[in-house]
Amino acid sequence: MLTFKEIDRNNFFDVIKLGVAEEQKKFVANNMYSLAQAKALPECVCLSIYHDDVLVGFTMYCIDHEDNEYWIYRLMIDTKYQSKGYGKAAMVKLVDRIKEDKEHQVIYISFEPENTWAKHLYEKLGFEADGRVLDGEIVYKLAY
Ligand SMILES: CC(C)(COP(=O)(O)OP(=O)(O)OC[C@H]1O[C@@H](n2cnc3c(N)ncnc32)[C@H](O)[C@@H]1OP(=O)(O)O)[C@@H](O)C(=O)NCCC(=O)NCCS
Repeated sequence: MLTFKEIDRNNFFDVIKLGVAEEQKKFVANNMYSLAQAKALPECVCLSIYHDDVLVGFTMYCIDHEDNEYWIYRLMIDTKYQSKGYGKAAMVKLVDRIKEDKEHQVIYISFEPENTWAKHLYEKLGFEADGRVLDGEIVYKLAY
């Protein structure tokens, strides 16, 4: 079963060891960077992704400081655990969690144009282009 856990003294060192393939590094910041960002930007919520007792990935989302909307800022599954359905399952779970907040109606996510894997995954979950390109990344949205 897939679960989210807080990042604390029990798993911090394991979370920062998670990584993606060399050619994927341009698609996602490393987890150390994201955790540092979340320290400075306390609206960012960091979660580690477990399959049963195995740590497989990391995600970070927030209510953006500028537009006051939900953004999924990061999603990564460690190279060793990719292509096993965990990325998709984690996205479904995260979207469900965000949807519980009835004061908001939309979730945004962005990705590099060459990241066809992420594009496919987000489209599968109902995200669609919002028309914007921010810092070279294509913005997708899911209205709920
Ligand atoms: C993108 C990412 C999160 C997907 O997670 P994952 O667990 O590997 O993917 P899943 O196994 O859940 O598969 C999701 C979809 O991608 C497809 N997929 C699986 N392996 C793939 C591969 N090697 N290449 C392309 N698509 C692939 C799956 O078939 C599935 O689509 P389907 O539902 O139509 O079958 C993961 O590969 C990753 O961490 N990539 C590097 C970081 C990154 O790009 N993050 C997103 C930043 S916006």
